Amino acid sequence: MDVTKGDTWATRYGGVMANTFGAPRRVLVGAAGTKVWDADGRAYTDFLSGIAVNVLGHCHPAVVAAVSQQVATLDHISNFFASEPQIGLAEKLAALATANAPGTPARVFFSNSGAEANEAAFKLTRLTGRRRIVAMEGSFHGRTLGALAVTYKAAYRQPFEPLPGEVIFVPYGDVAALEAAVDDQVAAVVVEPIQGESGVIPAPAGYLAEARRITAEHGALLWVDEIQTGLGRCGEWLVSVADGITPDIVTLAKGLGNGFPIGACLAIGEAAGLFTPGSHGSTFGGNPVAAAAGLAVLETIEADGLLARSRALGEHLVRAIESLGNPTIIEVRGSGLLRGIVLACPIAAAVNDAMLDAGWIINAPRPDVLRVAPPLIVGEYQLDAFAAALDIVLRGITEKEAS
Ligand SMILES: Cc1ncc(COP(=O)(O)O)c(C=O)c1O
Repeated sequence: MDVTKGDTWATRYGGVMANTFGAPRRVLVGAAGTKVWDADGRAYTDFLSGIAVNVLGHCHPAVVAAVSQQVATLDHISNFFASEPQIGLAEKLAALATANAPGTPARVFFSNSGAEANEAAFKLTRLTGRRRIVAMEGSFHGRTLGALAVTYKAAYRQPFEPLPGEVIFVPYGDVAALEAAVDDQVAAVVVEPIQGESGVIPAPAGYLAEARRITAEHGALLWVDEIQTGLGRCGEWLVSVADGITPDIVTLAKGLGNGFPIGACLAIGEAAGLFTPGSHGSTFGGNPVAAAAGLAVLETIEADGLLARSRALGEHLVRAIESLGNPTIIEVRGSGLLRGIVLACPIAAAVNDAMLDAGWIINAPRPDVLRVAPPLIVGEYQLDAFAAALDIVLRGITEKEAS
């Protein structure tokens, strides 16, 4: 057997990297736009974007320029000091989150990841003086202890219990269950507009508005985790704001830095007054380079009309997949360019592997669901080529299983 460069690196990885992710699928050495290359020179079209991160595609010139310029100008400062990119990014995010209620105060805590943004949000809820949090069955909010406490999956939670309490889970999208769970003891309700990690499951239409009504009636905070759905991925700046509401807390990460690590916890309205000096902190949070990346992302989405593009291309992808008439595909769900392809049988892992061999990066969040989250700069021809490749792979696998 030929030992490839990729094999060599994978062996070294296996000897030294924490065993949290299993064996790497490939060793990657380069990326540009919608493409990545592995150590053995093979190219792949990235329809996962580093799990819904690279909204602008890889190594976008605007981000490269902003980061390069910033790192050469003012690289890192402690939070005893302020920087212009940090303030500018916070102002833009605050404006997006309060678009339905202009003039409402909003304050931003910058973190380095999604889990940390949610960790900040969790601490914010404690500052209300109430403790109980209502979270959703099927939720995913990250791997730190606070974020894990509001994450549903038992396999992620159980080895690390006891987790911070007191969290109760209700069926996602069930208004009556939410109404029954929320009373005047509840500090917050935490919800994703679309549950990405659970298999791209959108909340029913109107659910966020009902959650807003119910939380407001009981003086509880509405904490919307837009880490996966926000910033153009689903065709809107924020899905919750496009639904007509103003949450009390919005958490962001993933697309915000287009691959440069940055997250944000936005506290809106009365919640904006909850953090006081000393109540939270982060050495790197709000780092000027990360903030410059975030500003470049927001400016490019706006300048290039990528929200509309995400919506239009999302529809195009759904049509391309549906028009295959492949009997193994039951449904394509989601919004914009965050889509789940629901299969009639639990072959998603095998399809995921075969698609990689065919040059396409996607993933399989459930045994019967494929997730695709291509960059918003993807071409229509690539969506069509993806659908054609998926058809071939699905037919190959199902025919092999049938024979
Ligand atoms: C909705 C949601 N919240 C939080 C997280 C955690 O983000 P991170 O992996 O940056 O900590 C994720 C990551 O997949 C997510 O999808």
